[in-house]
Amino acid sequence: MKIELQKNRSSPIVLFLSEAIFLGFLTVSSLQIMSSSNNDSQDSCPLLLNRLPDIETTTDETSSPRLPPPPSGCDRACKSDCSAEILGAARLPETVEWMKGLRRRIHEYPELAFEEYNTSLLIREELRKLDVGYRFPLAGTGIRAWIGSGGPPFVALRADMDALPIQEAVEWKYKSKVAGKMHACGHDAHVAMLLGAAKVLKSREHLLKGTVILVFQPAEEKGNGAKRMIEDGALEMVEAIFAVHVSHQHPTGMIGSRPGALLAGCGFFQAVISGNAGREGRCVDPVLAASAAVISLQGIVSREVNPLDSKVVSVTSIKNSNDVVRTPERVILAGTFRAFSNTYQLRRRIEEVITKQAEVFRCQATVNFFEEEYTIYPPTVNHQRMFEHVRKVAMDLFGPAAFQVVSPLMGAEDFSFYTELVPAAFYYIGIRNETLGSIHSGHSPYFMIDEDVLPVGAATHAAIAERYLNEHE
Ligand SMILES: *[C@@H]1O[C@H](CO)[C@@H](O)[C@H](O)[C@H]1NC(C)=O
Ligand SMILES: *[C@@H]1O[C@H](CO)[C@@H](O)[C@H](O)[C@H]1NC(C)=O
Ligand SMILES: [Zn+2]
Ligand SMILES: [Zn+2]
Repeated sequence: MKIELQKNRSSPIVLFLSEAIFLGFLTVSSLQIMSSSNNDSQDSCPLLLNRLPDIETTTDETSSPRLPPPPSGCDRACKSDCSAEILGAARLPETVEWMKGLRRRIHEYPELAFEEYNTSLLIREELRKLDVGYRFPLAGTGIRAWIGSGGPPFVALRADMDALPIQEAVEWKYKSKVAGKMHACGHDAHVAMLLGAAKVLKSREHLLKGTVILVFQPAEEKGNGAKRMIEDGALEMVEAIFAVHVSHQHPTGMIGSRPGALLAGCGFFQAVISGNAGREGRCVDPVLAASAAVISLQGIVSREVNPLDSKVVSVTSIKNSNDVVRTPERVILAGTFRAFSNTYQLRRRIEEVITKQAEVFRCQATVNFFEEEYTIYPPTVNHQRMFEHVRKVAMDLFGPAAFQVVSPLMGAEDFSFYTELVPAAFYYIGIRNETLGSIHSGHSPYFMIDEDVLPVGAATHAAIAERYLNEHE
């Protein structure tokens, strides 16, 4: 989830405190891959990790042998009884330990947006061990895996894989070993929970009345991971998609969501306002134009927007020369905007207000919205029926008290790109535990999770998917 803009991506020094251990781990993994399949030799060679292999497909999703349908007349009503079975499978001590181990390995070696090479390799290794078919790469490091009959309906579960350019400040055994990088948003746990769900669902594959698609996505924090996954076919044939985010606002295991807009859409802008400083007779002043633009931008939200539909436009930076005597040639304004609806319309108004205000003062302005680098996120909007599905599944798994309807947040998530295309629901699972100290918000250097969330997330993912297929009309 994007809480704030991470602009200081100065290249951090990569420091391996425990190179020997790390290389040991990689050698073992490489051997396993080479022995398990020979067409994967490219991505198993650590030296070639930066060169992505051609599309790697373990088995063909659609032509995989259809499993015999469950005997008719024995149409299992998968309600609370299947909830108990799924929860039991997710809580098996060896499954919990395995998920913790995966989460810790990923936490120790965090990788930033679109650089999730080793994380992606680790996921593919685990999928192979589980005998789960997949397609790779999508969006550089992304994976689309599948479990089930190979036929419709297709329901997708998504996890993001990227870390943040933050130096971890938590002192614990599995602290990040990469200086300046940290899993400070919990995406390490998201990967472990989705692999946990893969394990549970694989053990129940004969019961699945359709196909579960697992989407492991790069670059959530940078904004275009989801978009590129979609371009590369992540949603092919998918008719509904679900995702979870850990939340420090709810106690461990509490599940929360809401119908409709859950997270805001957002974008960033930078405007360059230039005049003709000092030229005889035409001394236009970009400082005055910039000041007027800042004031007018405030009017968009206070006067043009329905007060019940929250929006924010903030100018967060104004820069010009340090010369205190002369009028500068140009002034650079930058800021951010957030909205639960009509993000693109807000973008248009910001551009209009800045360029028109510049004209009033005989200056010119250009506004850049970084659509290449960051993109503009739409709001994350939960489909009513998908929201109700999550609520029902959560309550059947953990009891009615374990589910809460939550308020919308001004944070943003690139899961919103999926929600624009298919019915979807995004939900939170709490990780707050005062005893452990997992009380810090995402993107804090003190962020940590309560690992007891892992079986909860795995079971919720698995039950959402299995029951979606069972209850499909
Ligand atoms: C990924 O693994 C390769 C091969 O061992 C290593 O050189 C590289 O530094 C690793 N990257 C990260 C971010 O851990
Ligand atoms: C918090 O974590 C501790 C240590 O793992 C555990 O004993 C305790 O039950 C947890 N509390 C809650 C509310 O989950
Ligand atoms: Zn996140
Ligand atoms: Zn985040």
